[in-house]
Amino acid sequence: MVRYLKAVLSLGGSIVASPGINLDFIREFASLVTKLRREGYHLAIVVGGGRVAREYIEAARGLGASESFCDELGILATRMNARLVIAALGNEAYEHVPESIEEIEEWDKVIVMGGTTPGHTTDAVAAMLAARLGAELLVNATNVDGVYSDDPKKNPEAKKYERISVEELIKLVGNEHRAGVSAILDPKAVRIIKEHRIKTVVVKGELQRIEAALRGGEHRGTEIEV
Ligand SMILES: Nc1ncnc2c1ncn2[C@@H]1O[C@H](COP(=O)(O)OP(=O)(O)OP(=O)(O)O)[C@@H](O)[C@H]1O
Ligand SMILES: [Mg+2]
Repeated sequence: MVRYLKAVLSLGGSIVASPGINLDFIREFASLVTKLRREGYHLAIVVGGGRVAREYIEAARGLGASESFCDELGILATRMNARLVIAALGNEAYEHVPESIEEIEEWDKVIVMGGTTPGHTTDAVAAMLAARLGAELLVNATNVDGVYSDDPKKNPEAKKYERISVEELIKLVGNEHRAGVSAILDPKAVRIIKEHRIKTVVVKGELQRIEAALRGGEHRGTEIEV
């Protein structure tokens, strides 16, 4: 079994804070991260916006705000969620939430951050971070158990991929970004994964599956072939 000791985790806001703040999950997740660190893992976590982000984005859109203004609001929500994860991790994590990838210079503790700039989701931030840190693995933990041929919430005929090539994934995700979009990975994330050949796994945001993905075990999600 391959252990991926340097890994970036894109933790969907849908897992952390939708509909409400999922305190039990955050606590148990922090225990898992602490355990893995004891085993020598280096982890960086990018937390998504969840429902709070969508509520603010929709409200601002309704008030006539631009797409980038809406994205900025969503980013603020992701940073609040990141701080909750930091609160649970205590000394294991840096207290500071980086606002850009460029400002990150060391990786001795767990890095926890949210969004950076408008135009992409936290999945793209996680891909950029994985490239920057030279991580061996990117895990995208979300509210579905993998990549499907179509949105499984809208199309019951959609089929799950056990593996999918990055080229196929590019076709699947299209090339448009909209603030608050619900998609499995945004186009920018997929481009970065392809460019830097980052091994990526999409899994359901349950602790056992996240742990299995990080340990190179049976995660029952989708592997992206790069
Ligand atoms: N091809 C696809 N395969 C799987 N899920 C898809 C696909 N296309 C769209 N989706 C949707 O993407 C959703 C997951 O992304 P979503 O952005 O809602 O959650 P998240 O990224 O975990 O959380 P957040 O965006 O708040 O950080 C799924 O619930 C599913 O409805
Ligand atoms: Mg998302």
